[in-house]
Amino acid sequence: MALQMTLKQQRACARASARQPFRAAAPAGRPRRCAVRVQATAAPNDLNAGLGFETMRDGIKKAAKESILTPRFYTTDFEEMEQIFSQEINPNLDMEELNACLTEFRNDYNKIHFVRNETFKDAADKITGDTRKIFIEFLERSCTAEFSGFLLYKELARRMKATSPAVAEMFLLMSRDEARHAGFINKALSDFNLALDLGFLTKNRTYTYFKPKFIIYATFLSEKIGYWRYITIYRHLQRNPDNQLYPLFEYFENWCQDENRHGDFLAACLKAKPELLNTWEAKLWSKFFCLSVYVTMYLNDHQRTAFYEALGLKTRQFDQHVIIETNRATERLFPVVPDVEDPAFFPLLNDMVEVNDKLCALDTQNMPDFVRALAKLPLQERLASMLIRLMFCKEKECGSVDVAGSAASQMAAF
Ligand SMILES: [Fe+2]
Ligand SMILES: [Fe+2]
Repeated sequence: MALQMTLKQQRACARASARQPFRAAAPAGRPRRCAVRVQATAAPNDLNAGLGFETMRDGIKKAAKESILTPRFYTTDFEEMEQIFSQEINPNLDMEELNACLTEFRNDYNKIHFVRNETFKDAADKITGDTRKIFIEFLERSCTAEFSGFLLYKELARRMKATSPAVAEMFLLMSRDEARHAGFINKALSDFNLALDLGFLTKNRTYTYFKPKFIIYATFLSEKIGYWRYITIYRHLQRNPDNQLYPLFEYFENWCQDENRHGDFLAACLKAKPELLNTWEAKLWSKFFCLSVYVTMYLNDHQRTAFYEALGLKTRQFDQHVIIETNRATERLFPVVPDVEDPAFFPLLNDMVEVNDKLCALDTQNMPDFVRALAKLPLQERLASMLIRLMFCKEKECGSVDVAGSAASQMAAF
């Protein structure tokens, strides 16, 4: 049965988010930064004039309209989740592997990482015009995605506390990380005088219901793709410091390790339900979720090429690199992944970008709604047919192999 979070639970999550500490000493191995008290200081309002952002009140941004490509909040069947992670019910739960993840989470490697410094506000004030607009949009999307992870993991932790306390603690510690990430980005938004009211979002945003198995596939992929996005931006800016327009990106190296650890934990969750990895249905869903995550990112990022160009990145190259690396990481676990390195794969995604651009352009044109809907129809049909073609794209049979079946077992005994 689908269970939505009650308003009371959602408020509790938002309050917990507000309590997360975001200040501490500078991490080792990096020049020490001066920890400063961060206030929701206003950027001069005229910097935001003409950018088209609406505010709920002074310094607080109205959330962007939800669409099929915007980050979502999720809910699931928490009772089924409890059963998956109950040691009494599920014999496939590998507590040794899960406890290794718990030890990593308890180590809290980034406890003292998310400390701001005095350069943030000045850097934000120097970002103006169109670049400012796309920066704010990027920050809002990132904050919403991180906060979505916080809400889901926090609720999973709460629901499993009685039945699976160890797994509940793992979800709780992941929600701790996501709250830090969301809070850190929201402080960045306050540098631009457009912070989000996360408590309001918790209560008012639509929650999308996903079955537990879909939640596990989707969160595993989003953690892994998040890791590759952050580390790719970080490494690029290390090589090109002149493009480091805003200090947030300096934090991505340690930050992305949180996402990597979350992905490893969710991989262990997938293994706790072997039918998610070793049936024909699993093959279908694995490929479907890979494609959904890759296409969503590709179309989203190509609508915002100006942001990546502002950092000196080539959007297409950046996205293709992130997809290839995420796919290589995923093929170690999923039974099937799309063959994204097949020469036909990215040209098809590029064709989808072209059609999507035409669809977006129709939204900006002044015309009656029914004319717009009619004009969109053939483009939507083309996009749908491309999605179907993608589902039949070349795939790779893969997945983890036990020692017994591995190449090493074919070699002479040591
Ligand atoms: Fe995160
Ligand atoms: Fe994460």
